[in-house]
Amino acid sequence: MKILVTGGLGFIGSHTVVELQNKGFNVIIIDDCSNADEKVLEGIKSISGKMPEFEKIDLKEKDKVEDFFKRHEDVKGVIHFAASKAVGESVQEPLKYYENNIGTLVYILKELSKKNNANFIFSSSCTVYGQADEMPITESAPVKTAESPYGNTKQMGEEIIFDTCKVNADLKAISLRYFNPMGAHPSAKIGELPIGVPQNLVPFITQTGAGLRDELSVFGDDYPTSDGTCIRDYIHVVDLAKAHVVALTRLLEDKNESNYEVFNVGTGTGSSVLEVIASFEKASGKKLNYKIVARRAGDIISAYADTTKANTILGWKAESTLDEAMQSAWDWEKKIRKIQD
Ligand SMILES: NC(=O)c1ccc[n+]([C@@H]2O[C@H](COP(=O)([O-])OP(=O)(O)OC[C@H]3O[C@@H](n4cnc5c(N)ncnc54)[C@H](O)[C@@H]3O)[C@@H](O)[C@H]2O)c1
Repeated sequence: MKILVTGGLGFIGSHTVVELQNKGFNVIIIDDCSNADEKVLEGIKSISGKMPEFEKIDLKEKDKVEDFFKRHEDVKGVIHFAASKAVGESVQEPLKYYENNIGTLVYILKELSKKNNANFIFSSSCTVYGQADEMPITESAPVKTAESPYGNTKQMGEEIIFDTCKVNADLKAISLRYFNPMGAHPSAKIGELPIGVPQNLVPFITQTGAGLRDELSVFGDDYPTSDGTCIRDYIHVVDLAKAHVVALTRLLEDKNESNYEVFNVGTGTGSSVLEVIASFEKASGKKLNYKIVARRAGDIISAYADTTKANTILGWKAESTLDEAMQSAWDWEKKIRKIQD
């Protein structure tokens, strides 16, 4: 069965391609390589033993999207990762984000709306909750005003899918609201490749540990949390990838309760910034160079998932611990920086 993975050369996409192939799916990737390298294909092949099909297409080009679906009528499901994801950049260049994250989504949904039976998985984010009033966060927590154009594209994306599913019973969709993906494949053959200064904590930590950055700034240690630093729910990217396979299978097997569903994908456990640093120090055997600085505007205090819905309805549960995910992140960083133990 053929599955289209957009953004399949990226961080989460590449791990999902491997898990799909492990379950016997035939994968075709679309990526424009704006934030990825074609060499990732070799990494995928060396893990799964199978080279996925690949087409270098910019999904902002509507005609090319249309042409792709005409040539690949046998695509039975789409997992849509392709998007721009740098929160800070989205504040500076909002239209880039609305064009790339909303435009591409609309073009794909238009094509899927022409099919008799279409199955669609969307990369959403826990950013839709903002600072939720209650922890852990359930899917019924209110969606709060987005802090950035990037966050807004995830909220709008969900609404666009919801509205489209409402008028098209042949289209089934699931939005997965990711908490904080981290780590790499345990083989260290694929992983996160941030371009420029990493936006996320874990690659910043591993790059600091590898000597690419001098120091990590911890933004605030006076929050109302156990050690004063912010709390997030860090999920191993392989666990996250497996959630996509399970969600897609639910749609393909017609097990969905309605034709648009939403699931949190996290571990259910919150970890503080200092706990994440301690986990890195354990994995690497190194002291991390960090300093505590003032709070950063826009940071929420705490966000971790209630995963009951995914656990019970999807039958999916995160398996890896923070330490296991951190070990994989460090092994990957060592491999790409050619660091010997
Ligand atoms: N990484 C996170 O922390 C996180 C958290 C929540 C949600 N998400 C969402 O998950 C998805 C995947 O994230 P990721 O971390 O793997 O990002 P990534 O940047 O590694 O992967 C995205 C891929 O999409 C490709 N792409 C972007 N625009 C494209 C276009 N117009 N046409 C074709 N390809 C295009 C990029 O080249 C890249 O390979 C994104 O939608 C992101 O917003 C990520």
